[in-house]
Amino acid sequence: MTRLIFLGPPGAGKGTQAKTLADHRQVPHVSTGDILREALSKQTRLGIKAQSYMDKGELVPDILVQEMVQERLSQLDAKHGWILDGFPRTVKQAVFLEELLEQLDQSGERVVSLEVPDDVVVVRLLARGRKDDNEEVIRRRLEVYRAETAPLIDYYRDRQKLLTVNGNQSQEEVTDELQKIIA
Ligand code: AP5
Repeated sequence: MTRLIFLGPPGAGKGTQAKTLADHRQVPHVSTGDILREALSKQTRLGIKAQSYMDKGELVPDILVQEMVQERLSQLDAKHGWILDGFPRTVKQAVFLEELLEQLDQSGERVVSLEVPDDVVVVRLLARGRKDDNEEVIRRRLEVYRAETAPLIDYYRDRQKLLTVNGNQSQEEVTDELQKIIA
């Protein structure tokens, strides 16, 4: 059963690798960033609420993202596995997820931490140029990552769920390393 969580700084390659693996394993790729951007483009209530946080590189409030993830993982296609990309991002979200997975009888998740130095991710993101990929917002996203999300590495290591992968190599090399480690 594929139940994987991708952790890593902005630009680490979480989306790229999560999508490849989800296609390969035929499970849903659940990206909170993508769900929020879609809500934003459709100007739903969630999208409108999330916009100011996303534009500044701040985290959207836990409660909004948690509801979104609960709804998505409760859908039928998530019963037989999923790949989470961008969630959890705070210890509070991680505790919420643990309880949710227990309720849904979907425990047994593993966590992949993609490791890439800050200077490399900044270059990658500036080259991509999404709305939140300007230098000021990227720096803020990195600060938020360090303060709020990086503590999850120890959180999952303590629970013996953590796998680490060197994300600072070609996309194909990262995919190969990943496939070996989760085989
Ligand atoms: P989100 O969309 O999750 O953004 P992020 O974490 O900043 O991650 P990115 O999508 O920028 O990077 P990535 O690691 O997925 O890398 P990618 O594969 O795209 O979140 C956006 C915002 O939504 C947040 O700031 C927040 O406001 C909100 N949000 C989302 N989830 C939330 C949550 N749980 N709680 C609260 N708020 C939340 O690759 C990046 C680039 O690098 C691409 O151009 C790619 O082609 C390239 N690349 C990838 N791999 C390689 C490689 N190996 N070598 C060279 N280039 C590569």
